[in-house]
Amino acid sequence: MQLKSFVLFALSVASFVVAVPNAESKRQAVPLAAVYTTCVKPRTIAFTFDDGPHIYNYDILEALKKVGAKGTFFLNGNNWNCIYDLDQTVRNIHSEGHQIGSHTWSHPNLKTLKTKEEIIAQLQPVDDALMKIVGVKPAMMRPPYGEYNDMVRAVAASRGQSLVNWDFDSGDSIGLPLKDSVAAYDALLKSNQSTIIALNHETSQTTAQKLIEDVMPKFKAAGYTLDTVAGCLGLEPYQNVGIPGTRDASWTCTNGPK
Ligand SMILES: *[C@@H]1O[C@H](CO)[C@@H](O)[C@H](O)[C@H]1NC(C)=O
Ligand SMILES: [Zn+2]
Repeated sequence: MQLKSFVLFALSVASFVVAVPNAESKRQAVPLAAVYTTCVKPRTIAFTFDDGPHIYNYDILEALKKVGAKGTFFLNGNNWNCIYDLDQTVRNIHSEGHQIGSHTWSHPNLKTLKTKEEIIAQLQPVDDALMKIVGVKPAMMRPPYGEYNDMVRAVAASRGQSLVNWDFDSGDSIGLPLKDSVAAYDALLKSNQSTIIALNHETSQTTAQKLIEDVMPKFKAAGYTLDTVAGCLGLEPYQNVGIPGTRDASWTCTNGPK
């Protein structure tokens, strides 16, 4: 009796143990997008700018030009501004050789969305707008607040996009005073970290007009290459490059998700 129940018990444990790797391999059958938080190329820093297009973009492009740097812009469709209203800003970013990535249409925390369709509705219209305005489909996406789950990764993978977060935060989105952001960058420089993905915001006047002008030349002088995220990962920035469209009635933000 006792032996028999032990055998039954052992058998049920064994089948449970076997079931786990099975479930695991089933889950891995859905491809999940890569999530990058660090760069690859030694002595490279990728300055990234979120939440645009915005009026301060002009100052950022000037600062990048002055130091001979390439930056990466994760753009929204309709957050601070409607991307179709600032189409010339998007063209400027592209024509000056910087990278453009997606930062979703209206900047929700993607983890709070319940369905794949809701996530697609945040990604598709940004890709459409970028194809219309500059003729590119981005290969990289930065989830707002750096927040994602497996459903976000699965949808991104199905759309050919990887996720890009960061390993250094300038603190400009929480209103850190300029001197504190400069001090954080100075400490980073002193740490002599080999590769860096730095988070900044296009919508911060201080970042655009003071912070990067102060810190970018220091990294340059220390021998860092100031490159795009795609450049420092050795990946393509875009999945498709096509012909930009011309403005028509579809160049509007009124139909996008809130
Ligand atoms: C920083 O790291 C580089 C190699 O990546 C090295 O050549 C250099 O000497 C280091 N500088 C300091 C101050 O440690
Ligand atoms: Zn953002």
